[in-house]
Amino acid sequence: MPKMTFIEQDGTRRDVEAPIGLSVLEIAHRNDVDLEGACEGSLACSTCHVVVEPEWYDVLTDASEDEEDMLDLAFGLTKTSRLGCQIIMTEELDGLTVRLPAGSRNMMGG
Ligand code: FES
Repeated sequence: MPKMTFIEQDGTRRDVEAPIGLSVLEIAHRNDVDLEGACEGSLACSTCHVVVEPEWYDVLTDASEDEEDMLDLAFGLTKTSRLGCQIIMTEELDGLTVRLPAGSRNMMGG
């Protein structure tokens, strides 16, 4: 089974199983990763915001216009920000690594 990694705000890496077809948000919830996802994937919030590691960002399919609009509202937006509910796991994404956005400042890295 493919795996993916969440990097928590404090830098802790969580390697978890990532079943194909599940979204990053669903995978986070299965593994008690602290990603909110208030609208359960219906593109009506931005609380599932994750920061994709740059080497993975280009591998993902492009964000839809609706996703871009929501991302504009996300706190701590970065160049590689995506909505976790819109990233669907595939074979190619085995090893995908995303960071949980910092709750405040500390966005200077990368
Ligand atoms: Fe609301 Fe992703 S869970 S946009």
